[in-house]
Amino acid sequence: MTRRPQPPRSRPPSVDDAVALLRGQGYVADVGLGTALFLSLELGRPLLLEGEAGVGKTEVAKTLAAGLGRPLIRLQCYEGLDLASAAYEWNYAKQMIHIRAAEGDGSRAPGASAGAADGPRTDTDNPPADLARDVFSEDFLIRRPLLSALDPADGVAPVLLIDELDRTDEPFEAYLLEILSDFQITIPELGTVTATEPPHVVITSNRTREIHDALKRRCIYHWIDYPTAARELEILASRVPDAPEQLSTQVVAFVQKVRELELFKRPGVAETLDWTRALMALDRHTLDRETAHRTLGVLLKYQDDLERMAEGGVEEVMAAAE
Ligand SMILES: Nc1ncnc2c1ncn2[C@@H]1O[C@H](COP(=O)(O)OP(=O)(O)O)[C@@H](O)[C@H]1O
Ligand SMILES: [Mg+2]
Repeated sequence: MTRRPQPPRSRPPSVDDAVALLRGQGYVADVGLGTALFLSLELGRPLLLEGEAGVGKTEVAKTLAAGLGRPLIRLQCYEGLDLASAAYEWNYAKQMIHIRAAEGDGSRAPGASAGAADGPRTDTDNPPADLARDVFSEDFLIRRPLLSALDPADGVAPVLLIDELDRTDEPFEAYLLEILSDFQITIPELGTVTATEPPHVVITSNRTREIHDALKRRCIYHWIDYPTAARELEILASRVPDAPEQLSTQVVAFVQKVRELELFKRPGVAETLDWTRALMALDRHTLDRETAHRTLGVLLKYQDDLERMAEGGVEEVMAAAE
């Protein structure tokens, strides 16, 4: 423990403290996740969380940021995500306005010696050296999540959430690997930006494709599974504390059984919470077959799965869950 993190809050000194940090924010973590988180913070390595949708991956990053009292910077990944959206881009419109203004008042490039200053209008394509230096300065830089995370405005290293990395393509992953290797970004026109204190990085993947070995090797990896019934009840108690006890027990038993079925998309924790809230909105204190039938759309989002449940599935699950 030679390298103490900067305030606002020090990182948890043990696995138990890592679990407690998450629990303190209402996130119910087991010792496996606690260990992965602890090691990721201790060793300064990104935490790579994989698991089905709705099992609580994204929430780990949000909870960590809140628990450490650090800002959260989120990079939501999608197909076609590029450097301009992920790291930085030049504010082209602002650059043009600046160039036009400089042309208009004749004040451009007072010390320009290159001799290109007095050309016709087309020289906006080839502005003099000083003007070029102007418009490629920080004032004209649009900072996207990766750059903001390495060089935060308030100087406090944030939690950087790189969410659903499996949605991007491999070239982007390679670029990310470079950034995560030395926590720096090179901007050709400006120079290299290096993080004084690296951000805490949490990467999530729904595993629609495999993340590359090279990137995985840099990370502490943890698979978040669907919770056991006991843990799911704890989560429910934490997130929907006013849910009637019997309803919670029945909902969890039901959902756990549904997850055993051959479904296109099994319900995650998010759906358990949503369903409980929906049943409460209908003033239900217990789960009955008829209401279960009517509200299944909160739990299952694919017509095939809903049909499967309609054709005797609810009876089967209710019977097994009782
Ligand atoms: N272990 C947990 N403790 C508390 N809340 C949880 C837990 N797991 C999931 N949740 C809740 O479930 C919802 C979905 O979680 P999210 O992180 O968005 O899932 P994912 O990113 O895996 O799709 C969130 O509202 C989150 O608060
Ligand atoms: Mg998510």
